[in-house]
Amino acid sequence: MDLLDRLRLDVPIAQAGMGGGLAGARLAGAVATAGALGTIGILPPAQLRIAIDEVRAQAPDRAVAVNLLMPFVRRRHIDVCVGGGVDVAVLFFGGDQQVVSALRDAGIFVLAQVGTDDEARDALGWGADGLIAQGVEAGGHLRGTVRALDFLPRAIAIAGGRPVLLAGGIATGADVRGALDAGAAAVVAGTRFLMTNESGAHRGYKERLVDAETTVETTLFGLGWPARHRVLPNAATRRWCDADGRPRRLPSALNAWSGPLGRIVPSNNDAVIRLQWPRVPMFSPLAPLEGMPDRCVEAGALYAGESAVRIADVVSARDAVDLLAGR
Ligand SMILES: Cc1cc2nc3c(=O)[nH]c(=O)nc-3n(C[C@H](O)[C@H](O)[C@H](O)COP(=O)(O)O)c2cc1C
Repeated sequence: MDLLDRLRLDVPIAQAGMGGGLAGARLAGAVATAGALGTIGILPPAQLRIAIDEVRAQAPDRAVAVNLLMPFVRRRHIDVCVGGGVDVAVLFFGGDQQVVSALRDAGIFVLAQVGTDDEARDALGWGADGLIAQGVEAGGHLRGTVRALDFLPRAIAIAGGRPVLLAGGIATGADVRGALDAGAAAVVAGTRFLMTNESGAHRGYKERLVDAETTVETTLFGLGWPARHRVLPNAATRRWCDADGRPRRLPSALNAWSGPLGRIVPSNNDAVIRLQWPRVPMFSPLAPLEGMPDRCVEAGALYAGESAVRIADVVSARDAVDLLAGR
């Protein structure tokens, strides 16, 4: 299968769907217009529907992709994807045959982002059309346990001819060429597209990304969802994480007890993140968005991949696509 033809792409590059408003219609539409795959991150269903229509209006001849971050997905999200006629759905952190069948029956191309051999086999068993092999160097939430280029050949072997995209560590055109040479059908970049004018990240968060010297793998921002994630250090991680990123006992316990509390996509993220302070060890998975108070940059999750260390500018989404494509 020619993935570029199937997804109406000019270049083998996808922008990761980054949830909660980081990758909204503005970013996905700009990426799609530039000929790559733009992906809307998870939003409450009504907002998701509006975002789908906005991307389609902005890039009418391009594919529209939606990220389904499964712990937060409800039946309505699937209905919105089907009703909104999206072209591609990307599953992350789970899935099942019922969800994949509902999407595929509506003609939606289903990709599953996975981090281990078992996850890859599960996703193909549900009927996914292809895989995204995530490496441990990736930004945001992590399923990856080894470097992306080490996991890629294993995922390709398991995929049995279905396309495998690589996610993690894509900052330059050379990174893209390396991934394609290693057999990836395309690449997925998150951090590079976070560092664009069109992403929804708070200005102070973008400044931290530009100045990034290191990242931390942790579970600190795990209230309601105590899963592994990669972030930039800030006052919260400095106060509550050990040198290896492991959260200290109090935030770990609070995250473990918080259970399914946060398993909703809050429609008023602003109100939730305003309750976070670096000295109070209750940290939700929310990231600071433009328009939120500046102090959220020290108390919110500054998701970033290791690639942030190698990216020193905030550019337009079109320029980011051109840079990665070597155009
Ligand atoms: C800020 C940020 C938010 C992310 N949010 C999501 C998400 O909501 N859903 C998802 O499938 N992946 C998410 N990811 C992970 C990406 O899909 C991808 O694995 C990662 O960005 C690749 O590594 P890179 O950031 O070095 O390009 C996120 C990544 C970042 C940087």
